[in-house]
Amino acid sequence: MSKFTTQFVCQECGASHHKWTGKCDGCGTWNSLIEEVVLKGGAGQSGQEGHSHADLLDFVGVTTENIHEQQQKNRKLTRISELDRVLGGGFVDSSVVLLGGPPGIGKSTLLLQILNSLDPNCGIKNLVYISAEESVNQVLLRANRLGIDRDDIKIATSSSIEQIASTISKYKNDAIVIVDSIQTISTKLIQSTVGSVSQVRYCTQELANIAKCNNIIVIIVTHITKDGMIAGPKTLEHMVDCVLYFEGDKALHNYRLLRCVKNRYGPTDEIGILTMTETGLHEVRDPSSIFLSGDKDNNVGMAIFSGIEGTRSILFEIQALVSFTNSPIPRRSSVGFDANRMIMLLAVLATKCKLNFNNKDVYVNVAGGMKVTESSADMSILAAIVSAALNRPIPSGWLFFGEISLSGSIRKAYMSHQRIKEAQKLGFTDVFVAHNTDDLDQCDTIRIHRLKTIRDLIAVIKESQE
Ligand code: TYD
Ligand code: MG
Repeated sequence: MSKFTTQFVCQECGASHHKWTGKCDGCGTWNSLIEEVVLKGGAGQSGQEGHSHADLLDFVGVTTENIHEQQQKNRKLTRISELDRVLGGGFVDSSVVLLGGPPGIGKSTLLLQILNSLDPNCGIKNLVYISAEESVNQVLLRANRLGIDRDDIKIATSSSIEQIASTISKYKNDAIVIVDSIQTISTKLIQSTVGSVSQVRYCTQELANIAKCNNIIVIIVTHITKDGMIAGPKTLEHMVDCVLYFEGDKALHNYRLLRCVKNRYGPTDEIGILTMTETGLHEVRDPSSIFLSGDKDNNVGMAIFSGIEGTRSILFEIQALVSFTNSPIPRRSSVGFDANRMIMLLAVLATKCKLNFNNKDVYVNVAGGMKVTESSADMSILAAIVSAALNRPIPSGWLFFGEISLSGSIRKAYMSHQRIKEAQKLGFTDVFVAHNTDDLDQCDTIRIHRLKTIRDLIAVIKESQE
């Protein structure tokens, strides 16, 4: 007889039930029961059976610096620098990484490329790719197309977590295992369908246990829909060390953004930019250039913003269009920037500078399909709108950053030094910042203009000579 049984546990109050019901008897919540596996005669995960106690380690002499140093030293570089930076310097030993993204975005492609380019001297001898979605031949065909030339990559296909667990349990310390994807593997212990929350949670927990016990790196692929909702990625996030999201849409053309939303061993605000080509994914070394149109002849309603993504600066082109309308409710539309914030900026312009948009539709767009979330983009958004409204071009060497407060004053942005360095690299001549910006170095090639309020900003745009 099986040692395991399942029960239905309420995710709200923890009450367990023998059968699934729509409503929890304990707390009355609807649709909160999830099937979970339990060991008969005792609680706990299958990986821990047989252990009556946890191993204790001496804490003496272990400082956080030691651990940090050790971790940094042991990091496994993928040598895809965009990915290494997002991870905080490569993979950490025994870590579990979740790679999420919509179908067809390039997750399987990226993972094969990771195996191929992994630093051969990092101590990892076993490179294992387990596919539950594609046959071995399909994986080989793709590998061929990508020019994968390492002959020590092992490929298997399986959709049973028990099979996968027994295959990878034999590796200790020197392996990286990719499981593609968690929605297509399942355990026979749980009756619910493949891809259900119970299945993906159980399988992820099993893989995480193996990674921690055997000190191997496990990368788990998970599918998400556009709004990030399908069976569980959100519920899986707390079970793993690092969560990466791979994004890209039609507006971004062939560009793919790699974002880190959770990282126990590094920063979470970095983004990696890759481009999908005939021969797989390639790094984009100079991201600013892809988001700037370089259209120097038509600068009305166009302002450049120097933004910060993680530790580096990227330049964005902000476009604005102001058009006459007879509608009593003029349109306010914004793509790539918070529409409410744009409306707030228009209200500041109307109140503080008597620049009214009552009979005008206003459109704002961040070129290249990018999203700008920083409030220090305010000044560039406003500059683009004012330029469009007054039909005054903004000279092509100008760049703006700074937040605008409701009083109309301009507030300084953080990391101004990095922002200006990027602008300098790309040949910008004039940077407009808040009057009290202090973290700036002396710089010969770029003129820095310090502005106090939006009135100063409007004045410089009015006086601009293209
Ligand atoms: P894939 O890695 O299969 O996506 P996922 O695993 O996220 O579902 O990538 C599929 C897409 O990538 C497919 O539309 C074809 C495209 N692609 C290229 O453009 N170039 C390539 O070299 C490869 C391998 C795929
Ligand atoms: Mg795939």
